Amino acid sequence: MSSVFLIFGSTGYIGKRIVSVLEKLGSTYYCAKSRLENGNDIIQEFEKYQPTNVINAAGVVGKPNVDWCEDHKQEVQFINVTCTLSLAHLCHTRGIHLTQLGTGCIYEYDDDHQPRSGKCFTELDKPNFDGSFYSKTKAIAEELLKTYLDNTLVLRIRMPITSDPEDKRSLVSKLIHYEKVINIPNSMTILQDLLPILVDMSTKKITGIFNFTNPGAFSHNQVLSLYKKYIDNDFTWKNFTVEEQDKILNARRSNNELNVNKLLGLYPKIPNVEDSMVNVFKQMKKNIELQKK
Ligand SMILES: NC(=O)c1ccc[n+]([C@@H]2O[C@H](COP(=O)([O-])OP(=O)(O)OC[C@H]3O[C@@H](n4cnc5c(N)ncnc54)[C@H](OP(=O)(O)O)[C@@H]3O)[C@@H](O)[C@H]2O)c1
Repeated sequence: MSSVFLIFGSTGYIGKRIVSVLEKLGSTYYCAKSRLENGNDIIQEFEKYQPTNVINAAGVVGKPNVDWCEDHKQEVQFINVTCTLSLAHLCHTRGIHLTQLGTGCIYEYDDDHQPRSGKCFTELDKPNFDGSFYSKTKAIAEELLKTYLDNTLVLRIRMPITSDPEDKRSLVSKLIHYEKVINIPNSMTILQDLLPILVDMSTKKITGIFNFTNPGAFSHNQVLSLYKKYIDNDFTWKNFTVEEQDKILNARRSNNELNVNKLLGLYPKIPNVEDSMVNVFKQMKKNIELQKK
């Protein structure tokens, strides 16, 4: 039976890029109009479209950034935990495969997991980062989604990056506009590499929890060095420490490297972040040149 996808959050930063992948593949897909809080509307859409696969890219991440979630806790928990679980339950009772977007921002480096030590967080490690309410809700939702893992796939994304120069939500755009940045290696999700894999995993009805980033870790300075090399030779930036950064934020930010061996076991060709990031910037340069023509 061929897959019929129903996408929640199709207008969002990641959701609309998932839709582009489905479009390119010629898949049968529908963009859900129902809100996560309206179970009856969701059921009606299930009846209308008869999806075999739901992809949930809907969630609250905070605008302009995750700090917003600290002051809107009820709203954030309601959507990211209560409604997310409700959608999982509806999918489960109907035998519909669910792909849920999770986050890898539920860990932070600790004594046993130091940067570039080769010891990275696996899917079996307990979350150790609760410095932001957003991360807390995502960790709680993931834990409770384990009840539905026979038909649910949770993909832990981190610091999504694209080669679109107009992309205001990409890590690159964020970094170039900050006054100062920290310089710590982190796992990152290069969307052009990983989103086709998301669709493939959903199509194959793979279940379980997966760290969903490129292999390896990349620092903000490495990102900005590539930006300077390929996009703006005059660009300069300043660093500060995590402690200094904490003073200007409502919520702390997590820094970690995820172990992606489980994902690589299924998709061994996912490029290392260092190699793929160079391609991201080369592509971005091409995109900028095309825009000028
Ligand atoms: N961006 C990141 O850095 C990042 C990293 C890791 C994981 N993730 C996860 O990826 C998912 C998508 O993130 P994103 O960055 O793409 O977020 P986004 O750009 O803010 O998009 C969120 C999407 O969810 C929809 N949505 C929000 N509340 C909804 C509700 N109650 N019912 C139905 N739809 C609702 C929004 O539609 P409306 O605008 O109409 O409300 C929008 O389409 C989230 O689960 C997030 O936790 C994101």
